[in-house]
Amino acid sequence: MTNSAPVSARRDLVDSPLLVAARGGVPQHTPVWFMRQAGRSLPEYRAAREGTPMLQACLEPELVCEITAQPVRRHGVDAAILFSDIVLPLYAAGIGLDIVPGTGPVVSSPVRSAADVANLPALDPEQVRPVGEAIGLLLRELPQTPVIGFAGAPFTVASYLVEGGPSRNHENTKALMYSDPQSWHALMDRLVDTMLTFLRVQLAAGVDAVQLFDSWAGALSLRDYREYVLPHTQRIFAGLAELSDVPRIHFGVGAGELLGAMRTAGADVVGVDWRVPLDVAAQRLTSAEPDLGPPVVQGNLDPAVLFAGWDVVQREVQRVLGEGRAAGAHVFNLGHGVLPATDPEVLTRVVELVHETSKQA
Ligand code: CP3
Repeated sequence: MTNSAPVSARRDLVDSPLLVAARGGVPQHTPVWFMRQAGRSLPEYRAAREGTPMLQACLEPELVCEITAQPVRRHGVDAAILFSDIVLPLYAAGIGLDIVPGTGPVVSSPVRSAADVANLPALDPEQVRPVGEAIGLLLRELPQTPVIGFAGAPFTVASYLVEGGPSRNHENTKALMYSDPQSWHALMDRLVDTMLTFLRVQLAAGVDAVQLFDSWAGALSLRDYREYVLPHTQRIFAGLAELSDVPRIHFGVGAGELLGAMRTAGADVVGVDWRVPLDVAAQRLTSAEPDLGPPVVQGNLDPAVLFAGWDVVQREVQRVLGEGRAAGAHVFNLGHGVLPATDPEVLTRVVELVHETSKQA
C-alpha cells in the first residue's frame, strides 16, 4: 500500500442517498443509518460474537464483514458502519488494553507523564491489515451500500488512555492538559499519527466515507477545545483531505457549545446529539464559518425515544425530519449510539418511516 495514493468512493455509489446528502445535494430520500447499529441490539450479532472477545473479533475479517452487514440486511439502512472500535488501533499497536463487557475500554498502564507519552508505540499499517481485508470483503458483500470507516478523535481516545478507562469527569485527562501542556500536545500528536495510519488503511481498502468520533469533546469548554483539541483534529481532517475526496463526518456528544468550532475542523458533515435541534445546529454551523457554505447535519433522534412506544417514536422522527429539512442537507441518525436493549423491530420501522416520509416531501 502506498500512503499517498489518492482514493475515492466507488463510482457506482456516487448517487446513493448517503453520498448525495453528504455532499449537500438532494437525495431520493433522506439517508438513514444508526451509530452502533452493528452490535448488541441484534440477536444475530450476539450469536456471531459468541465466544470471541471484542477486540479479537475486530481483527477477524470474515466476522467483521458479517457483523457490519447484519444491520444493512435487517433494517435496510443507507450505510454500513465498519464493525470495529475507537481503541482498536491502540490495541493493534501493542498497548495493553481490553474492552470489558458492560464497562468499556480498560487500559492496563494509564498514560500520565511525559515518559509514558514517549513510550507509546506507533501503529504500523500491517498491524491493522485485517481491517483492510474486512473492508475488501464488505465492498463485495454490499455492492449497493456505502461503507463508513471511522476512528476516534484524539481527545476521546486520549481520555481512555489517560484515565485508564471510561470516565465521567475526565479529571486526569484535564489535569495533564492544564499542568503539562507540552506532554498533552505530544500525546495528541502521537494519537493523530495513529488515527491517520488507521484511517489510511481504511481509505486504501475503499471505504466510501469516514466518521471521526469525538464522543467526549462535550466535556470541554469552548476555550479549552480550541486550544487543546481543535488543532489536532484539524490535522486529521487535513490529512484525510489530502488522501481522498470521500465525505468526512465529525461527531461529538454534548457538543452544542462547540459546534461552530467543530465546523472549522474540516469535516463535510457534522453529527449533532439530541440536545440541539438540527435547524439551530445548522444556524450555529453557518454563522461560525459563512464562507464554507451551508452545512450538512447528521442526527439526532434521542436513542432513549426508541423505548417510548411507536406513537412517540413516530412523532419524534417526524420532528427530526422537519428540523432536518429546515437545516438543509440532512443525514438521519440517532443523537448517539443504539442502546443495547433497543428493540430491533423499532429500528427497522424508523428506517421505513424516514424513507417514506422523506420521499413524499
Ligand atoms: O455499529 C457501529 O457503530 C460500529 C461499531 C462501533 C463500536 N464502537 C462497536 C462496539 C463503533 C463506531 C464504536 C465506537 C466507539 N467505541 C466509541 C465512539 C462512539 C460512541 O459511542 O460515543 C466509543 C466511545 C467507544 C468505546 C467503547 N467500546 C465503549 C464505550 C464500549 C461499550 C462498553 C460496554 O460493554 O458497554 C465499547 C465496546 C463496543 N464497541 C461494543 C461494540 C459493538 C460492545 C462490545 C460487546 O458486544 O461486547
